[in-house]
Amino acid sequence: MSAQKFKAPRGTFDVLPEQEAVRRRVVEVARRQLEAAGFGRLDTPIFEETDLFARGVGESTDIVQKQMFTFTDQGGRSLTLRPEATASVCRAYLEHGMQTLAQPVKLWTEGPFFRHERPQAGRYRQFTQVNAESIGSDAPLVDAELILLAGDIVRELGVEGVRLRLGSLGTPRARAAYLDELRTYLRSREDELSDEVRGRIDANPLRAFDADHEGTRKVMEDAPTLMDRLDPADSEHFAEVRSLLDRNGVSYEIDPTLVRGLDYYTRTLFEFDCERLGAQSGIGGGGRYDGLIEQLGGPATPGCGWALGLDRIALALEGQARGGGPAEEPADLFIVADDSERERALSLATELRRAGLSADLDLAGRGIKGQMKQADRIGARHALILSGESTATLRDMTSGEEREVDLATVAETLSAP
Ligand code: HAM
Repeated sequence: MSAQKFKAPRGTFDVLPEQEAVRRRVVEVARRQLEAAGFGRLDTPIFEETDLFARGVGESTDIVQKQMFTFTDQGGRSLTLRPEATASVCRAYLEHGMQTLAQPVKLWTEGPFFRHERPQAGRYRQFTQVNAESIGSDAPLVDAELILLAGDIVRELGVEGVRLRLGSLGTPRARAAYLDELRTYLRSREDELSDEVRGRIDANPLRAFDADHEGTRKVMEDAPTLMDRLDPADSEHFAEVRSLLDRNGVSYEIDPTLVRGLDYYTRTLFEFDCERLGAQSGIGGGGRYDGLIEQLGGPATPGCGWALGLDRIALALEGQARGGGPAEEPADLFIVADDSERERALSLATELRRAGLSADLDLAGRGIKGQMKQADRIGARHALILSGESTATLRDMTSGEEREVDLATVAETLSAP
C-alpha cells in the first residue's frame, strides 16, 4: 500500500463517530433553552460578500486584517467564508425586513465558522459556534436575558470551572475621547511597549490590554480604563444589567479592561472562560452592538448577542470525569446469518429499520462465530440468528437466554416493553 498522502487541512479536524454524542448534546441543550426563550433558528450562508465582514467586523480587527478565507468566484466577486455570525444575522435581519416584526427579534444559529489563525489546542481554522442574537431593543433586560441563557446552557451541560467576566464599552463618542486619552498615555511610555502594540497605537490601542509582553503589561497596570469614562446613560445601562444579573444569582467579575477582537461592540461586553482549558480558555462571549446595523446601511437599530465555542465546550466536557454526554444507544439487534441467508438478512434488517428498530448485520463475510462476536462488540441487545424459513433464534446478549421467534412478528416482539 502507498503511504497516506492526504491529511485534513492544517487547523481542521474530523469529528469521529465516538466524538459526535457530546457535540450533538451541546447543540441540543442550546436549541431547547433558546427556543424555549423565544429564539427562532436562522441559518445564513457559509460565505458572504467580503465587504459585509470588512464593514461589520471592522477593518482594523485581526479577523479582517489577517484571518479571513477570501476568494474570488468565477464571476469576479470577492467572497469570504464567514468568520463569525453577527454580521450575517444583521444582514439577514435587514434583507428580510425584520424591522417590521415585533422587536426584539431573537435569532439563533449553529454551524461552522472560519478564521485563518495559528492552530493550537482549542484554536482551529474551522470551528463551530452556537450563536444567539436579540435585535431591536436597547433594554438592559435584553443583555441580561442573553447572559442568563448562555450561563444556563453551560451549566446544564455541566461544564466545570466557568467564569464570567463583564465590562462596558460605552458610546462611540465617549469611547473616541477615551481612546485619544489612552493613545496619549501609551505614547508617553512608548519605549516600554512591545513592537506590536507600539505599531498599533493609532489603529487599535485597546489591544494593549490583551498583550502578553511584560513591559506592556506593566504599562497597562496604570492605564486609564474606559469604564471610568462612561457617559451617565451608559453607566446606568450597565448598572441595570448588573442588577438584573444579581437578582438572578449570576456570579461574575467586572473586568474594566475586557477587550474583544471585534469592532462592533458598544456598551455591555462579556466573556465566559473555563479554567480547565489551557491558553484558549474562552468558551463564549458577546455583547451589545448598537451601531452595527446602521454601519451595514440599515436604520439605527440596537442589538446584542453572543457565541459559544462548541469545540472548546466539547474539549472541556471530554476532559471531565463525567464525559458530558450519554453513550450511543446500543443497537436493538444484530442479525446473524450464514452465507445462504445473507440477502434475506439485509431485507429483514431493512424491514425492522422501517418499523423503527435499530438493526445491523454482517457486511464483511464473517462466519457465524465472528458474527456473534461482532454483535457483542457493537453492544447489541439481541442477536437474531436466522435458521428456518419463517422462524429464527433470538438471543438476549446479556443473559444468553434464547428463544424461537416468528420472523413475521419479530418487530412487535422487540418493540414490546
Ligand atoms: P468570538 O469571541 O470571536 O465572538 O467567538 C466566540 C467563541 O467562539 C469564542 O469564545 C470561542 O469559544 C469560539 N472561537 C472563536 N474562534 C475560534 C477558533 N479559531 N477556534 C475555536 N473556537 C473559536 C464572536 O464570534 C461574536 N460574533 C459573538 C457575538 C455574537 N457577539 C455578538 N453576537
